[in-house]
Amino acid sequence: MKVGVIGGGQLARMMIPEAIALGVELRVFAEAEGMSAENSTTVVGDYKSAEELGWFADGVDVITFDHEHVPLATLEQVERSGSSVQPSSSALQFAQNKLWMRKRLSDAGLPMPAWSEVRTSAELEKFMAENGGKVIVKTPVGGYDGKGVRVIDEPSGVDDWFAEIDKLGGSLLAEQLVDFDSEIAVLSARRASGEWRAWPAVETIQLNGVCSQVIAPAPNVDQQRALEIAERIATELSVTGVMAVEMFQTKDGQLLINELAMRPHNSGHFTIDASVTSQFEQHLRAVLDLPLGLTDMTSDVSVMVNLLGTEKGTDFLENFSDVMFRFPEAKIHTYGKSPRPGRKMGHITVVGDDLETVRSRALLAAAVISGS
Ligand SMILES: Nc1ncnc2c1ncn2[C@@H]1O[C@H](COP(=O)(O)OP(=O)(O)O)[C@@H](O)[C@H]1O
Ligand SMILES: [Mg+2]
Repeated sequence: MKVGVIGGGQLARMMIPEAIALGVELRVFAEAEGMSAENSTTVVGDYKSAEELGWFADGVDVITFDHEHVPLATLEQVERSGSSVQPSSSALQFAQNKLWMRKRLSDAGLPMPAWSEVRTSAELEKFMAENGGKVIVKTPVGGYDGKGVRVIDEPSGVDDWFAEIDKLGGSLLAEQLVDFDSEIAVLSARRASGEWRAWPAVETIQLNGVCSQVIAPAPNVDQQRALEIAERIATELSVTGVMAVEMFQTKDGQLLINELAMRPHNSGHFTIDASVTSQFEQHLRAVLDLPLGLTDMTSDVSVMVNLLGTEKGTDFLENFSDVMFRFPEAKIHTYGKSPRPGRKMGHITVVGDDLETVRSRALLAAAVISGS
């Protein structure tokens, strides 16, 4: 069994130990030398080239993803030549393009914030007037970690995007600014045969648009409702592999879909240390259409804290032994990436039975290793 992963980031990297455990051969198609996943069999190439991807796909049974940036036309070409792509381009398009996702899920009658496709400043102004004056605008494609998301109270706040609207696909996505109580993510996996399993819904806490903490399970959410929404999306779109559904929980308890990712996701890193089956193992099982593993947690609660690059550019080595000595219960994961401010460099997970203790230990360990 050979799985090819397009993208050499930390998600591909964290599939490596699981692939070794299962006896799956993992090959990575990285975009540059020296990436996070380079200690597996790695080739470097251009993921926009159908020719290079086709060559990579020929050497494996199935190809899957560490990121969603492969152009749709390229993927369709690889599929037409007979390669197994999981998730398929027909599902992945809705994780690539936030506008298509809004349209598709609206048609399916799923709960979402008010939204509109806007092509001009005048159209945006109209949407703003109808939605409380202050709204969210997103570039439909290519955003991540809050890049490509802006809160604006004047249409001119996205003048620079309108100025290059053709490069951005011709339109922007305007959304109602949801006054949420919390942000929730449901991570689940589905395989081609139809089997679907979800981990408990988690609460995610974002700082400056970047995920900062994940609390599993989410302390205050209708778990059944959250999982129902995720299952409907997975089935409706025939998603294969791991999918994350980000949601807002409003003050009156409504769940509104924010966005989808069809690959292992930051909100599921806790599963490595706190679940019977990690999201990385499950992704490999699912893309190979093998029976899925149990998603039960192995502890009552877990808290994951992301380690972001700082101005000092720390690589964590300075405080490695200190944090290990002071927090022997903390599970430390680093991604081998060169540091940049705000970049996801690693994460720490702590598990236990008391949320407040677990959370304060995880936050403190993260602060110590980051030298703050
Ligand atoms: N409609 C919205 N209302 C309120 N906050 C939002 C809305 N859309 C996005 N956000 C905030 O911005 C963050 C990033 O937006 P998202 O669409 O998930 O972009 P990214 O692809 O960068 O993760 C969200 O996690 C949330 O905190
Ligand atoms: Mg997001």
